[in-house]
Amino acid sequence: MDLRSLVPGAAGMAGVAADALVLVVAGSEPQALEPALAGLLAESVKAGDFEFKPGRSLYLHRPAGLKAPRLVLAAAADASPKAFKTALATALSGLKSLGVRHAAVALAAPAAADGVPALDDRHAEALAAAVADATYVYRHTKPSAPEGAKLQRVTLLCDKANASVVKRGLARGQGIADGVTLARECANRPGNFCTPTFLAEQAQALGAQYGFKIEVLGRKEVEKLGMGAFIGVAQGSEEPLRFIVLRYEGAPRTSAPLVLVGKGITFDSGGISIKPAAEMDEMKYDMGGAASVLGTFKALGEIKPKVNVVGLIAACENLPSGRATKPGDVLRSMSGQTIEVLNTDAEGRLVLCDALTYAERFKPAAVVDIATLTGACVIALGAQRSGLFSPDEELAARLLQAGEAALDPAWRMPMDDEYDEALKSNFADVANVGPRGGGAITAAMFLKRFTKAYRWAHLDIAGTAWKGGAAKGATGRPVPLLTHFVLAHAR
Ligand code: BES
Ligand code: MN
Ligand code: ZN
Repeated sequence: MDLRSLVPGAAGMAGVAADALVLVVAGSEPQALEPALAGLLAESVKAGDFEFKPGRSLYLHRPAGLKAPRLVLAAAADASPKAFKTALATALSGLKSLGVRHAAVALAAPAAADGVPALDDRHAEALAAAVADATYVYRHTKPSAPEGAKLQRVTLLCDKANASVVKRGLARGQGIADGVTLARECANRPGNFCTPTFLAEQAQALGAQYGFKIEVLGRKEVEKLGMGAFIGVAQGSEEPLRFIVLRYEGAPRTSAPLVLVGKGITFDSGGISIKPAAEMDEMKYDMGGAASVLGTFKALGEIKPKVNVVGLIAACENLPSGRATKPGDVLRSMSGQTIEVLNTDAEGRLVLCDALTYAERFKPAAVVDIATLTGACVIALGAQRSGLFSPDEELAARLLQAGEAALDPAWRMPMDDEYDEALKSNFADVANVGPRGGGAITAAMFLKRFTKAYRWAHLDIAGTAWKGGAAKGATGRPVPLLTHFVLAHAR
């Protein structure tokens, strides 16, 4: 996608040459709108065709006084980046079936008291996200999928005063959108395409494109490291496991890295504690955490911030077989702690705990793991906010802030010590599950036992990485949150 910013010439927005002009109207009293547009807007409202209500949009063909042959009005609740993005999504979905190749977008906002233009880098970033979302089509195993939008270029109209911040926002937004698209593409691919080996190949490809250092460990190396928990999950499957290390070096060696750890279960059947058949197909996205690590690295490759980041991905399948781990089996983790596997379907925490121990060697500034970890988190928070768990107030605040800034929000969940009692075992140092209640929290408490050496947070993305229903598929979340978190650390 070709994203640009443009300061309109003497003829104003009316003179902008594009196949369509999209005017996002924030609130009900847009100020300083040029006469042609103000007239069209007033007429549309008077005719009862347009209302200043979020969700409303109107298409006008050959609008009088405009160079562009199409005008789309889209109402936004206010001039916030979030409302701008929502209104744009509506407008762009309307353009999808049309012949529009080049759209110009403008924001009509109420007058700001301080005279600062309403549009800034956050709007530009929101635009990049909305455009990428509207134009992504999954085709890899569905070549017959209908062509997406013909849209090839989007120009964001701005003033001289905000042109440079808008430009910066577009670049950042495009980088993040590229990362989101990669994460979606990986998570949408079926388990027989997106295997642990495939994830490793994706990492290698990113390495080749952007100069990241990539290491891929197989069964033998992982055994040598003593990753008994990870192997305990992988051993039920014929598909070889992969432990993937990515290194982005944007700062001097002396700068401690952030470490991102992704759960990479390329299919989760539950293992011997097998899942019910309904919707089991969706468990191909149980590598959504891994996908978000790859996507964030893609964004880093594009944006190139001055920071060091390590990505770790523990990838395997969770299947039942004659060699699979059984309920009651005890595994020895890389940390030395033994784990009683009471339920083989709580496999994410088993692969993550060894990856978290591996992370110690990087002497990290902080470690964040990302995992489609529990159905309980879906029940608690639904699809709107990712679950954030951390004993570290400051780190938690930074991640929450990154989520708000990225329009990819999270919600902090409790981690009182008392929750840990649910994980007591008579046969090992820890059990891999507790009772049903508070399932997302006990999962986080389990992980916490492996994070003593550094500052740590956990994101449960079971509800946010995937959309059900008619638009079923991967969302690419939380790549925007993670990228913002890393960028803020670079500053
Ligand atoms: N991958 C699942 C969690 C999940 C559920 C992700 C629904 C997305 C949507 C995870 O491995 C799992 O099976 N968790 C169990 C844990 C339980 C056995 C303690 C769960 O949530 O039921
Ligand atoms: Mn599971
Ligand atoms: Zn799982």
